[in-house]
Amino acid sequence: MERMKTALITGITGQDGSYLAEYLLQLGYRVVGLVRRSSTEPTERIEHLRARLELAQGDMLDPSSLLRVLDQFLPDEVYNLAAQSFVQTSFLEPVHTGEVTALGVTRLLEAVRRAVPRARFYQASSSEMFGQAAASPQRESTPFHPRSPYGVAKLYGHWITVNYRESYNLYCCSGILFNHESPRRGLEFVTRKISDGVARIAFGQADSLALGNLDARRDWGYAGDYVRAMHAMLQQKEPRDYVVGTGTTHSVRDLCALAFRHVGLDYRDFVVVDPRYYRPAEVDLLQADASAAREELGWKPELDFAGLVELMVDADLARRGHGARPVRGILPAGPA
Ligand code: NAP
Ligand code: GDD
Repeated sequence: MERMKTALITGITGQDGSYLAEYLLQLGYRVVGLVRRSSTEPTERIEHLRARLELAQGDMLDPSSLLRVLDQFLPDEVYNLAAQSFVQTSFLEPVHTGEVTALGVTRLLEAVRRAVPRARFYQASSSEMFGQAAASPQRESTPFHPRSPYGVAKLYGHWITVNYRESYNLYCCSGILFNHESPRRGLEFVTRKISDGVARIAFGQADSLALGNLDARRDWGYAGDYVRAMHAMLQQKEPRDYVVGTGTTHSVRDLCALAFRHVGLDYRDFVVVDPRYYRPAEVDLLQADASAAREELGWKPELDFAGLVELMVDADLARRGHGARPVRGILPAGPA
């Protein structure tokens, strides 16, 4: 019988960490999650998995904690999902973002090199690195031009991963993932802000929704689909980097229209533009060319944009409404 593999996930309490943990457990892995100390319980997204997971305390800012955890669990695969991941916050906390999202990668790679040099390593790179992209759609060879401290930090994390692969012959991959969302997305990101805003408006808990740039376009997919690509990257013969996205692009305005329409409302009656949500520098358009991931990993997304928006709005309606009747619009057939 094949030995059970051990995977370490940093960022296990985040959106992707929770879906990846579910997926790896389903595949029969022993899953260990790195969790940083907090004065409140940050484990809401993995509560349903708690009995099947092992959690270890550590922080991307503290190299000794990373080495200790690797020495203790000797993982076969390491998924580095931990980051200060919100672009807007990176303009307010550029140094902290650099410490966690950029240098954190080097701290972890150094610990891997010392403790488990044969482990396979996944780095959560981002389409935000393309930023003001020179070409569309974006593929692995498209030049990078990040537009935020977060994007710059991710670019450092990306190149240090490539560098450790080339310098020390480690099996390291960067997944350049385009935006992916779910009902577990943080409330500050635009998809979830909109799905939650629709639910609050439908149940009379709010009268409007304040947003920033409605013309920005993103390639939005479903997080549950994207974690399959992360795992597949670590099962190849040779390590390399892959772009992962749906290949379709929509504006924030399209997203609003669809989300409000799902409950029979017109977004123009509720959405107000508030310059507070504009960014000092914006990424106008992202669209993936994920041909390499499709061809070499056999990866393809299962849920389309409309299905994703409906899933998220339905989940927030169920969470906010507790089965009550909406005071505005209609309750779609989905949530009971
Ligand atoms: P997320 O929900 O914001 O989760 C981030 C995770 O990082 C959380 O578990 C957080 O822990 C942890 N973390 C933050 N600072 C840490 C530190 N100093 N030490 C240890 N852990 C720390 O992000 P996500 O959407 O799941 O994304 C996962 C990764 O993919 C991130 O690296 C993100 O930048 C990248 N990415 C995401 C997308 C996307 O569209 N979702 C696209 C491309 C790349 P707490 O719970 O304690 O805060
Ligand atoms: N958050 C937010 N809030 N964004 C808004 C708003 C608002 O009120 N109004 C308009 N937007 C626009 C932003 O200006 C941006 O162009 C777009 O909506 C998407 O914003 P976010 O959902 O915050 O995501 P992001 O694209 O900046 O970053 C996400 O995707 C990256 C991959 O491309 C994050 O998950 C990053 O961690 C990830 O790397």
